[in-house]
Amino acid sequence: MTTARDAAGEKSLDFPEGFTWGVATAAHQIEGGNVNNDWWAWEHDPDSGTVASSGDACDSFHRWREDVDLVGDLGLTAYRFSLEWSRIEPAEGEFSLAALEHYRRMCAACRGRGVLPVVTFHHFTTPLWLTGRGGWEAPDAPECFARFVTRAAAYLGDLIGWACTINEPNVVGVMGYFQGQYPPGVKDDFFRFSAVNEAMVRAHRLAVEALRSGPGDYPVGLTISMAEITAEAGGESLRDAAEEVLENTFLRATAGDDFVGVQCYTRMHFGPDGQAPNDPSVPVTQMDDERWPQAVEFCVRRAAGISGRPVVVTENGIATADDADRIAFLSEAIESAHRCLAEGIDLRGYFVWSLLDNFEWHLGYGPQFGMVSVAPGTFERRPKPSAYWFGQVARANGLVTRRP
Ligand code: BGC
Repeated sequence: MTTARDAAGEKSLDFPEGFTWGVATAAHQIEGGNVNNDWWAWEHDPDSGTVASSGDACDSFHRWREDVDLVGDLGLTAYRFSLEWSRIEPAEGEFSLAALEHYRRMCAACRGRGVLPVVTFHHFTTPLWLTGRGGWEAPDAPECFARFVTRAAAYLGDLIGWACTINEPNVVGVMGYFQGQYPPGVKDDFFRFSAVNEAMVRAHRLAVEALRSGPGDYPVGLTISMAEITAEAGGESLRDAAEEVLENTFLRATAGDDFVGVQCYTRMHFGPDGQAPNDPSVPVTQMDDERWPQAVEFCVRRAAGISGRPVVVTENGIATADDADRIAFLSEAIESAHRCLAEGIDLRGYFVWSLLDNFEWHLGYGPQFGMVSVAPGTFERRPKPSAYWFGQVARANGLVTRRP
């Protein structure tokens, strides 16, 4: 890994050989027609505050081959996607061979294109048969999840590149039991929030065990939502408490795993009364988050320090209609990641969220995280300049930034 500045004022940042450059998606956000999970029910509950139905999403359940080809054509080395549990196990204990075969074809197509399939086993959606009897609060929810993971891994394991057990278990708890914006829509219930966090940690540990006992031999990890959290005067203890509950609990739960996945987008502030407003001098994204690409290095350092695991940035990106700004943001974020490598942190890969403009949960189709747009009505994929730019970064295994 070298860093050099040439005569034209360009600085090239080389990444270590074998560094992984990928894009991420999630089943419910792109597949369409996932009618058998808690999110579909939530989107159709007039009291949920969710602005749209996921509907057909990007129709990736049928157009997945185009998606995989896009990833390969761009020159990326990995595609992170998730399995839809409610398709694979539509009723309790009843497994769909056809659904498993669908995901097997996806993994095989990735392999055929030289793209590493990075498979997430739970990305926010839970089958209705389980939510009907308490969801993550059902006493046997972790065992139910482990049973599903065992079956899916038995069918796919020989093709899996890396496995992520649960996507952002901390967000499931916060959004579902504190802020009430994700199902089951509970607000400010610390007791239920803590119980779900514990269930998710237990589910993760059981899933790691299941994955390691099945066919194949691939790295297994957990992906965690993180932010650069700063303390204003008097906000230090609340900031520390927030970090402890929201992030550290899950970072420590990765003990023995092969990697920890860091998913970061922004910076947040804590004052003496809790979360404080954004810094007004910093522009905001379509999510009303501070546009703060350098959060990457803060989060990667914390994740590495607390977990002691190798790190992969499994999601980073920006919701914006301005694709030139996406390139600028990603470029700053990648520079930020590079500083971690220069410090000797074992960072193994960087994934952009997201390949496609897709269903952004309670915010519907407003926020544009994609490097590829999807035409309404035809589902035609149109790569934006950022997609080609990121492909060049992957092919060069490095970044060239122009300096004034
Ligand atoms: C989630 C994605 C989501 C993205 C942007 C992450 O928290 O894993 O599902 O779309 O952030 O908000």
